[in-house]
Amino acid sequence: MTLLRDAALADAFDRGAGAYDRLVALNPGYHGQLRRSARRLGLPDGGSGCRVLDLGCGTGASTAALATTLPGADIVGVDASAGMLRRARAKPWPDRVRFVHAPAEELSRAGVSGPFDAVFAAYLFRNLADPDPVLRTVRGLLAPGGRLAVHEYALSGRRADRLVWSAVCRGVIRPLGTAAGDRALYRHLGRSVAAFDTAPAFAARLGRAGFDRVRVLPLPGWQTGITHTFLARRPPERPGGAR
Ligand SMILES: C[S@@+](CC[C@H](N)C(=O)[O-])C[C@H]1O[C@@H](n2cnc3c(N)ncnc32)[C@H](O)[C@@H]1O
Repeated sequence: MTLLRDAALADAFDRGAGAYDRLVALNPGYHGQLRRSARRLGLPDGGSGCRVLDLGCGTGASTAALATTLPGADIVGVDASAGMLRRARAKPWPDRVRFVHAPAEELSRAGVSGPFDAVFAAYLFRNLADPDPVLRTVRGLLAPGGRLAVHEYALSGRRADRLVWSAVCRGVIRPLGTAAGDRALYRHLGRSVAAFDTAPAFAARLGRAGFDRVRVLPLPGWQTGITHTFLARRPPERPGGAR
């Protein structure tokens, strides 16, 4: 199964950027579920004084969820696709939101430096050629005790959920993607979810990358068992500097 990766994926998102917001709006609860995952970060006081990184921010749907649920936070949105970012930047944002064009694999080269109090990544990780180095980078960008929320299509492992996902791809996602002229991108969506970690496997991956307090939370609606919020924490430093 061929998946789009790196520059080929960024090109596909560049081409798909024009229709992206229209297509995700057809998914009931898309924006509400992003807000739910953003709230699950649990940052106190509306994120007042916090720095939050939105990795794979796309056209800004996840950035908007963060900006709404964390009205006090400074937010940096990063994406590898210039076309998606152009759409994001064209929207009205408060001064505390800014965007950087960079692949998640090259954040430091693009001048994205920590510490961040939280990192949010919605629908990013299954797109990466190798999620592990990016998870380690994210861990390093977080302040000790900082929080990660990954909002991702990661199947539960139950056969019924895999069948629902296949049916949604066949009956809804592929036809709509094809009609929008973005057949390759939406075929990639279906395949990348099928090829990605199950929810328990991704939770284990987070643990191996050095996160603690890893939790997997369900999302409501048709995406139950298909999309999850993964919460994790960079462990705080122990007195004496040991981790
Ligand atoms: C499905 S979109 C999600 C966008 C947004 N987070 C949302 O919730 O609507 C995935 C985004 O991840 C970006 N992306 C994929 N691979 C990336 C990488 N290696 N580095 C940075 N961004 C990447 C894509 O360009 C795309 O904008």
